Amino acid sequence: MVREINTISVIGAGYMGKQIIERSALCGYNVHAYDVSFESLNEFISELNKSKDIKGEIIHHNNLPEAVKNADLIIETIPENIELKRDVFSQIDEVAPPHAIIATNSSSIPISKLEDVVERKDKVMNIHFYHLINWPMADLMKITQTSDETFEKGKKWVESIDITPLIVKKECYGFVFNRIWRAIKKDCLKIWSGGHADVEDVDKAWKIFTGSDEGPFEMMDKIGLDVIYDIEMSYFKKSGDQDDKPPDALKELVDKEQLGRKTGKGFYEY
Ligand SMILES: NC(=O)c1ccc[n+]([C@@H]2O[C@H](COP(=O)([O-])OP(=O)(O)OC[C@H]3O[C@@H](n4cnc5c(N)ncnc54)[C@H](O)[C@@H]3O)[C@@H](O)[C@H]2O)c1
Repeated sequence: MVREINTISVIGAGYMGKQIIERSALCGYNVHAYDVSFESLNEFISELNKSKDIKGEIIHHNNLPEAVKNADLIIETIPENIELKRDVFSQIDEVAPPHAIIATNSSSIPISKLEDVVERKDKVMNIHFYHLINWPMADLMKITQTSDETFEKGKKWVESIDITPLIVKKECYGFVFNRIWRAIKKDCLKIWSGGHADVEDVDKAWKIFTGSDEGPFEMMDKIGLDVIYDIEMSYFKKSGDQDDKPPDALKELVDKEQLGRKTGKGFYEY
């Protein structure tokens, strides 16, 4: 079967970009990568080529125009800064082939906030991945001008790299799963900070109820409590509702560098 998308470009190869490069290349796609930090990307690609059975080719570029010029799909995974993303989206639009789809992996910026900087408004969308190995799913969201063809191609590509697409039917902060996870976190944090129950019991209840191996507090420790705090603050800033403000007790853990697994102590000790 001829695939509609054969060549991918990943712009920004940090924590998420690297996972997308690896998964795409393992699934046989040719991947062109560009990051302003050339050295770390170079090391990552040589290590990957040595350690894994990479079926596609990974090509490393030192400038954006070269990295996107043969792409069918470009995934932008640069930092979560709207001005930076708008600038990079407009650069990509100028130099990418006219048929190419441009997607953002942003955790919070809807594609509607980037569409006015591109000409190809029918070929842009959100493809928001979670950790590709632990949580193999991605939220897909469009704007009114994203064509059905673009959306369908994006969806097929996501499925082709063994990731489950979650379709956002109407623009929504937090997409599909981040919004569900956020509701769970918010109340778990309130139960803990209000002294209503111990984290162990909340996690036990969650594991019995869902059959999951990990409870919400164990998951938050894995993600990092600094990351959790920043995300909760972004929901609070968006709504302005005091009920959305993360508890001071969480900020205290962050200030004490008790960030979860990565510092050896968070809600639990490791
Ligand atoms: N970290 C997560 O768990 C997660 C999950 C889902 C989505 N996201 C989203 O993915 C995006 C990237 O997040 P991340 O955690 O991978 O960040 P990161 O900081 O690990 O990586 C960003 C990379 O972009 C590079 N970069 C910066 N400016 C650039 C430019 N102008 N051109 C090319 N490269 C540039 C940086 O050198 C860095 O390697 C963000 O929009 C974030 O919201 C993150």
